[in-house]
Amino acid sequence: MLDLKELQDPPAEQELPAWTRKDLLDTDTLTPAELELVMETAEAMREVRSRPVGKVATLRGETVVTLFYEQSTRTRASFEVAAKSLGADVVNLSATGSSVEKGESLIDTVRTLEAIGADMVVMRHGRAGAPYLAARNTKASVINGGDGTHAHPTQALLDLFTMRQHLGTLEGRKVVIVGDILHSRVARSNLWTLLAEGAHVVLCGPATLLPRSLEARGEAGHCELTPDFDEAIAGADVVMSLRIQKERQASGLIPSLREYIKGYQLNAARLARARPDALVMHPGPMNEGIEIAPDIAHGLTSVIEEQVANGVAVRMAVLYLIATARRK
Ligand code: CP
Repeated sequence: MLDLKELQDPPAEQELPAWTRKDLLDTDTLTPAELELVMETAEAMREVRSRPVGKVATLRGETVVTLFYEQSTRTRASFEVAAKSLGADVVNLSATGSSVEKGESLIDTVRTLEAIGADMVVMRHGRAGAPYLAARNTKASVINGGDGTHAHPTQALLDLFTMRQHLGTLEGRKVVIVGDILHSRVARSNLWTLLAEGAHVVLCGPATLLPRSLEARGEAGHCELTPDFDEAIAGADVVMSLRIQKERQASGLIPSLREYIKGYQLNAARLARARPDALVMHPGPMNEGIEIAPDIAHGLTSVIEEQVANGVAVRMAVLYLIATARRK
């Protein structure tokens, strides 16, 4: 295995502040300098991944636990690959099959994991705020892999990394996020990173799924909300479609799937209103034919698979930065 010192383009530590955070719980408190540090470190990790061996030994002797109380494919698998690519030992735990099923509390669970040697716990939970509670109750670092409708910080970081690869700066770029904004942790965490990077963010969806509280003006970028997708998408540099959660239909928040598709599906006719090279994104999992047409999901400007691939490099960066902070 290679050591991180052998990276061709190591993060420019002399110009950027060192990472000092024990946990990564959301993107809302990350400074532009911290975002830059994650992006530069992720670029270095991408270079590591492109080598024939694709691994370094930086986290050798450290244990990363993935603790998932909800289903996941991308987040969980990419954290596991990321941790192993850095030489860490990985333990995967689900609520199903663990002592959580016998009624063990979250606090007892994370303390148990700490007692058996967990250095970092990557956690997904159905309740907003659960990773914050866990982080307050363990010396292990907690990384939020998605908590209820609240936050999904590493998804937003990998989305930012992907956008920057194609667009360079996000300054003044129009990014449209369309779908169930109200229940989307992805939309929330993306909003904070995009505002920090100076983007013009448009959140779009049925009025019942658009929380007005998100209308915001950051120091650099700004955010507006609209239920009109045809208007929102005009001139967009990036269009990110979100999964429509089928349970929303039962709760009466959308009239019917047919109506939803008519107003909010990202299809060829709508995409033609965006810039010709507009990036098509989706955090996954997708309902093809509902929120996004299959030809657009797999079209020329779709970067959906790149998002997934970049997830490994970005999660390697997050694990690496937190591990370096823990050693100080
Ligand atoms: N985007 C995302 O969080 O996907 P998973 O639910 O598969 O992890």
